Amino acid sequence: MKRTLGTCYYPEHWPEEIWAEDARRMAELGLTWVRIGEFAWSRLEPSPGDLHFDWLDRAITTLTDAGLKVVLGTPTATPPRWMLTKHPDMLAVDAQGHPRKFGSRRHYCFSHDRYREESVRITRLLAERFGTRVAAWQTDNEYGCHDTTISYSKSAEHAFRDWLAQKYQSPDALNRAWGNVFWSMDYASFDDIDLPNLTVTEPNPAHVLNFRRFTSDQVARFNQAQVDAIRAHSDAPISHNYMGRVTEFDHFDVGRQMEIATWDSYPLGFLEDRVGASAEDQRHYARQGDPDFQAFHHDLYRAVGQDGRWWVMEQQPGPVNWAPSNPAPLPGMVRFWTWEAFAHGAECVAYFRWRQAPFAQEQYHAGLLRPDSAEAEAFVEAAQVSDEIKQMPDVEQVQAPVALVFDYASQWAWATQPQGTGCDYFQLVFDVYKGLRQIGLSVDIIPPDTATLDGYALVLAPGVITLTDAFKSAISNTDAQVILGPRTNAKTAALSIPVPLPPAIENLDVTVSRVETLRPDSPEPFADGGHYKLWREQIETTEEIVETDADGRPLMARAHHLSYLAAWPEAEALRRILTRAAIAAGLDPQDLPKDIRIRDTGTTRFTFNHGPEPVEFHGQTIPPAGVLWT
Ligand code: GAL
Repeated sequence: MKRTLGTCYYPEHWPEEIWAEDARRMAELGLTWVRIGEFAWSRLEPSPGDLHFDWLDRAITTLTDAGLKVVLGTPTATPPRWMLTKHPDMLAVDAQGHPRKFGSRRHYCFSHDRYREESVRITRLLAERFGTRVAAWQTDNEYGCHDTTISYSKSAEHAFRDWLAQKYQSPDALNRAWGNVFWSMDYASFDDIDLPNLTVTEPNPAHVLNFRRFTSDQVARFNQAQVDAIRAHSDAPISHNYMGRVTEFDHFDVGRQMEIATWDSYPLGFLEDRVGASAEDQRHYARQGDPDFQAFHHDLYRAVGQDGRWWVMEQQPGPVNWAPSNPAPLPGMVRFWTWEAFAHGAECVAYFRWRQAPFAQEQYHAGLLRPDSAEAEAFVEAAQVSDEIKQMPDVEQVQAPVALVFDYASQWAWATQPQGTGCDYFQLVFDVYKGLRQIGLSVDIIPPDTATLDGYALVLAPGVITLTDAFKSAISNTDAQVILGPRTNAKTAALSIPVPLPPAIENLDVTVSRVETLRPDSPEPFADGGHYKLWREQIETTEEIVETDADGRPLMARAHHLSYLAAWPEAEALRRILTRAAIAAGLDPQDLPKDIRIRDTGTTRFTFNHGPEPVEFHGQTIPPAGVLWT
C-alpha cells in the first residue's frame, strides 16, 4: 500500500468562492485525503431540527471533484449553544463539583443519555446523506482531550450505580470485593453509592478504580452508538483521532469498534508537559520533539487499529498555540515527522491544518498555508514528501522482534494507588520503550490480553498490575525472553493484595514481601552500576539473582526465559538490563548515540537524527532533521 498525505480543512471558516482553489492546490500538492466537518454542528443545524446540509454537500462535491477523498468527522465534540438550553444538565462536572461550561469545546458528559441520543441523531443524518460519498469517517474529536473523560455529574452517578449493580448483583458482594468493612464503609443499597470525589480523605481505591473502569466503558458506549449509526448507511472505514498520553479510557476497547486508529501528533506541543523529559532534554529537543514520544504512540495506535491500520490524523506543521512555549520546528522536521510515521506503518499523515485561522482560539497555530493563503514553511516540506513517496518503494511493515505490553487499567490502578510521588505507569512503560529504542530495537506495543507471543524474541510487561489469564498462558508457552516487574501482577482486579503474594507466576519462585517508594530526588545504586528510582520491592527467591543493590540484596531474578525486575531502573542500569536480555534473546543490540533512532521495516532500515546538530553514524554524517533509508 502506498503511503498517503492529507490535511484538515474547515470549509465553514472560508468564503465558498475559495473552496475550489483550495481543493485544486491540495490535489496539486499531492494530498489524497481531506478531513472536514468535525466542529461544524452550529452551521449544520443552527437551531434544533433546522438542517443546513447543503453547504457541506457542495464542499464535499468540490473536494471530490478535485480528486480528493473526504474523511467526514461527526461534529459531536462541539455541541452548539442551543443544545445546552435544550439539555441544561448535559455538561460534564469536575472533581470539585463545578460544571464545565459552554464557550470552547468537549463540554458534554459521556453519561448524559439524551446528549448521546442527540449525537446519534446528527451522526445518522450525516450518514444517511453522505454515507456513500465519503471515503472514511471520524467519530467525534479526541475523546479525553482537555481532561474530559471523567465527569462527576448526576448522570454519571446514576449510570455508575447501574453499572455497579450489574457487575456485583448485590451490595454485599460489592462490600466484600472492596473491603468496605474497613472504616465502616459498607453499603446497604447501590443507590447509596456516590461518586468518589469530595471525600474527606482518600476514598477506597476499589471505588476509584471501578469508577475509572465505568468511565472508560461510557466512552466506548458513546463511540459504539455513533459507529452503529454510521454503519447502517455507509461501508466506508471508521476511525477516531486519539491523543498523546491520554489514558483515561481503554483505547483498545474503543479501537476494536472501528477499522482505523488515528492520532494527533504535536511533537513540540507535547515536549514540555507530557513527555516527562528533563529540563536539559527539553532545551535540547525544543525544535524537534522527544525522540521516542511520537514513536511510542505510533506503535501504540498501530496496536489499537484493526489489522495494524493507523494514521496520523493531525500532524503539527509549525508552531502551535497551546503549549507552555511554542517554538517553530527545525527546518526539515515536518518532513522528518512524516517519514517517521510512515516508518512505523502509518497509511496516511494529514497535516493540521490547511490554512492558519486568523480568528478565535488558534490564531497562532500554523497551517500549510498562512492566513493570507501564501505557502507556509510546512507546505514546502509536505511537497518534498509527496515527491519522495512517488520515488520510493513502499514501506512494508513486519512484526518487530520486541513486544511491550501497554495496559490502560494498570494506568488507572497506579494512578489510584501510586504509593509515592512520580510513580506513574505510563512513565515506567515509556522509560522501558525509550531504553529499547536507545539500543536500536524496533518495538511492537501489545494489549494486555495478548494470547500468543509467537514471533517475538523479547517481551516486557513492566507494571501490569493484574495479568490476564490469556497473557499468563502466553508467557508460559513462549520461548521468548520475558521480563516482568516491577509491580507486575501485584493486585487483584479489585485492587487488593493477593495471597499468595505477588507476582505468583508459574515456574518463577519470586515473592514480593514488601514494597517501598523513594523520593524522586533520591535514586539508589545497583551494585553493577546505575541507579533505580521511585519504586523498589523486597523479594524472596531461590532463582538465579542477576542484579542486586549495593548491599547485595536481590533486585532481579531469572528462571530460564522468565525474569522478574524488582525496581524501576534509571537509564544507565536499564540499558545494561535490556542489552543483556536482548543478547539472551538472540538480538543484536547497539549502543546508539543520544539523538539517533532506528526503525526496521520489512523493506527498509530508517535512521533518524533527532538532534539539533549533525551526527556521525556508521561512517555517515546525518544532518539535523535527517532521515536515512537503507
Ligand atoms: C488538536 C485538535 C484540533 C486542534 C489542534 C491544535 O488537539 O484535535 O482541533 O485544536 O489540536 O493543535
